[in-house]
Amino acid sequence: MSRTAPGVIIAGTGSYTPSRIVTNEELSTSVETSDEWISSRTGIRERRLADDGEVTSTMGAKAGKAAMESANLKPEQIDLIVVATLSPDMTFPSTASLIQHQLGLRMVTSFDISAACSGFIYALEVVSNMMRSGAYHHALVIGSEKISPILDWSDRGTCVLFGDGAGAVVLTKTEDITCGVIDSYTGNDGSRPELLCLPGGGSAIPTSMESLAHREHYLKMNGREIFKIAVRWMEQSAIIMLERHGLSPEDISLIIPHQANLRIIDALARSIKIPREKFFVNLDRYGNTSAASIPIALHEARQKDCIQSGDYVLLVAFGAGLTWGSTLIKWH
Ligand code: ACO
Repeated sequence: MSRTAPGVIIAGTGSYTPSRIVTNEELSTSVETSDEWISSRTGIRERRLADDGEVTSTMGAKAGKAAMESANLKPEQIDLIVVATLSPDMTFPSTASLIQHQLGLRMVTSFDISAACSGFIYALEVVSNMMRSGAYHHALVIGSEKISPILDWSDRGTCVLFGDGAGAVVLTKTEDITCGVIDSYTGNDGSRPELLCLPGGGSAIPTSMESLAHREHYLKMNGREIFKIAVRWMEQSAIIMLERHGLSPEDISLIIPHQANLRIIDALARSIKIPREKFFVNLDRYGNTSAASIPIALHEARQKDCIQSGDYVLLVAFGAGLTWGSTLIKWH
């Protein structure tokens, strides 16, 4: 990257989560599980579930509107919109395209990124580098998920883990290259897609009576394997970013991990030796909202004054693919 390329700051944040709260106790009335099992294995106590009228695009539009307001920008000032999601409204057109219209944006570049729970990190990398080309001034980057319709509510090993919601940031070009989104790292190992996937409904297994009977239109996960790989690659993603920039764990003021499981976060804290108090955690209230989890947490961290000017903030994610990544931000 050229030293003369413009910098990119996070000029605004926003989030939207559905009003319907489903506690572990409530879940245990329809699934064979318990609050004790879910909270002790995952840290999750409740999640938000979207109503029938709410979909990935409408939740993403609400988060995006909030982010534009927080950046004091009008819709006509946005010249790029990218949405990270694994639960698009439909296979095509993109959810970004639908949100563009809902928010009344100009006819600007719009596309989705498919990297599951790492999608927001992938989007930050793609969008910040597009902006460094100089062609864009303000970009809306949204992570939005309505995961509840793709969960198998008879599979207690997965349905208790996830929730719906959306988070967003506005990225703005700046001449100051010493702060903002400093760098991103992303990676992928495509050799084991079956560990976490939604097998049906695509070109490999088109929707049919048979695919529906085999419940292939629902998310499938090997939780134990995912757990081990998640810890390893989140650790690597954090270490690579610290080493690239000559930073030590003490230099990081706040780390915002993908909000999947408290035990993954605890293991990550131990392995990279960043004190657990520096990890922002809200998965107890939302569960795993996939690509939305980091932007929702980032917005809450700002609302709670957990981020000050000059702070190094590290985002770290892991997801289906298998994908992973990290983003280093020096807050402006
Ligand atoms: N309630 C009660 N019992 C349950 C539940 C439940 N909700 N789910 C599973 N069990 C039972 C199993 O049936 C099994 O019973 P058995 O021993 O009689 O066969 C027992 O609990 C142990 O099951 P495991 O799956 O081995 O439980 P584990 O300790 O591995 O915990 C968990 C499962 C929480 C899913 C864990 O593996 C995990 O967190 N994995 C990571 C998953 C994750 O975070 N995925 C998302 C990351 S990527 C992304 O965000 C898209």
